[in-house]
Amino acid sequence: MSETSGLSRRNFIKTSGAVLGGTMLAHPILSFAANRRGNEKMKVALVGTGVRGVGMYGQRLLQDYGNYVDMVGICDQNPGRVKYAHDYIKPNGPAFTDLDEMLTKTRPEWLIVTTWDWEHHSCIIKGLQHGCNIMCEKPLTIDEHKAQMLLDARKKYGKEIIVTFNYRWAPPRAKLKELIMGGAIGDLTTVDFHWNISRSHQMRYMQRWHGEKDRGGSLWVHKSTHHFDLVNWWVDSDPEEVYAFAGLEQFGSNGPFRGKNCRNCDHTRECPYYWDITQNDHLNGLYAKNENFDGYIRDNCVFRHQIDSYDKHAAVVKYANNVLLNYSLTCDTNHSGFWIAFNGTKGRIEGREGGWPGLKQGEPQQWILQPIDGENEVIDVHRIEGGHWGGDPLMKNKFFVDPDQDDPLAQAAGLRDGVMSILPGIAARKSSETGQKIRIADLTSLQPMAKRPVSG
Ligand SMILES: NC(=O)c1ccc[n+]([C@@H]2O[C@H](COP(=O)([O-])OP(=O)(O)OC[C@H]3O[C@@H](n4cnc5c(N)ncnc54)[C@H](O)[C@@H]3O)[C@@H](O)[C@H]2O)c1
Repeated sequence: MSETSGLSRRNFIKTSGAVLGGTMLAHPILSFAANRRGNEKMKVALVGTGVRGVGMYGQRLLQDYGNYVDMVGICDQNPGRVKYAHDYIKPNGPAFTDLDEMLTKTRPEWLIVTTWDWEHHSCIIKGLQHGCNIMCEKPLTIDEHKAQMLLDARKKYGKEIIVTFNYRWAPPRAKLKELIMGGAIGDLTTVDFHWNISRSHQMRYMQRWHGEKDRGGSLWVHKSTHHFDLVNWWVDSDPEEVYAFAGLEQFGSNGPFRGKNCRNCDHTRECPYYWDITQNDHLNGLYAKNENFDGYIRDNCVFRHQIDSYDKHAAVVKYANNVLLNYSLTCDTNHSGFWIAFNGTKGRIEGREGGWPGLKQGEPQQWILQPIDGENEVIDVHRIEGGHWGGDPLMKNKFFVDPDQDDPLAQAAGLRDGVMSILPGIAARKSSETGQKIRIADLTSLQPMAKRPVSG
């Protein structure tokens, strides 16, 4: 289904708002709507035309939100990939291989950043220098030094920075926020949150830069940024201290053999991770056919020695409001999803999300509310269509259709949220490598607060 097709702007907003319900909470970020002139389209440019850029923020953005958005330019440092992307997205403006040149020539109001994680900060800062507001994919960046550079740059240039935390917008997660905010279980005391990554998803990580710590910050940052952001948002407090363990047991040098890349490997018969990129026309056209320009190999060996990201992770996080989080990220499992429990002074909410055995397609997501004094209640949350459990279209409605749309659950995330979502993972990485407990306050100039300020 097209994300906005057949719906007027007004009805569309009503529809998406109805999914959430709940009480009102003002959220001052995204005040940029005030900068828009009447019904003029938003002038956006895109940097980073990998699979995320060309899909979510490229072709699908223009297909579904073309009445609201003009894409005045696209940029990727790989000339072959940006050419493919230009044919695929069909933006309103030209393709560039140099970000400075694109920003100078096209003067967008918003720069959408979907580059490699370790390049986000340089693209964001360049965008701010050119007077753009920024919409950046997660993770905001990969270490505390780059995070500090972003905090400083934002102070200097003063524009908006949004981090596109689509996970917050999925209706089942929003329902949890609504229940907790509404006091359904009193004051929170502890959270148990355990996430599993399936084999096919993990394989895609390890085949690419995500497997190398200096590029994705390890999965503690690349993946867990989503999870820590959710907990920060649900708990409505900042992480304060982190203690963690991690291990790498399946991938990298642990493997029994290795090859140059999947498609021409000698071990395709015995390797459980064998994947032939040439069978997928889109990925072949975007990546394999353009390797000659920059050497970016999309189907690297998951057993290459360079891999140093972990494949199992466990952390305890103390929040500034004294909530304790028990968190784990377990990779290469036969399950994709999570199990979660919130304990509070008046009860407990528990549930699991993902493709569990027995769960039929189209069935509602269920949370179990267990009041200390009362009957258990099963809360059904109906799923909606769209990427990332329906989160992608709802988030895009807010950002591209009507940024002034009420945000009762504070789902829009700004720079502070982006930084606070990566610091627990950075701290966990440091803790698991040093055996020390790490204080969030020691990482950047941001100081944890018992109640999070509304993001900016
Ligand atoms: N929110 C989500 O659920 C979600 C899902 C997928 C990806 N992502 C994020 O989106 C981003 C992109 O992911 P992807 O899978 O498309 O990555 P990718 O590696 O496939 O593509 C990144 C592209 O950025 C280009 N690039 C890197 N640095 C650049 C620079 N300085 N200037 C110009 N071009 C540059 C590369 O050439 C490449 O084409 C990542 O940060 C990833 O974490 C988020």
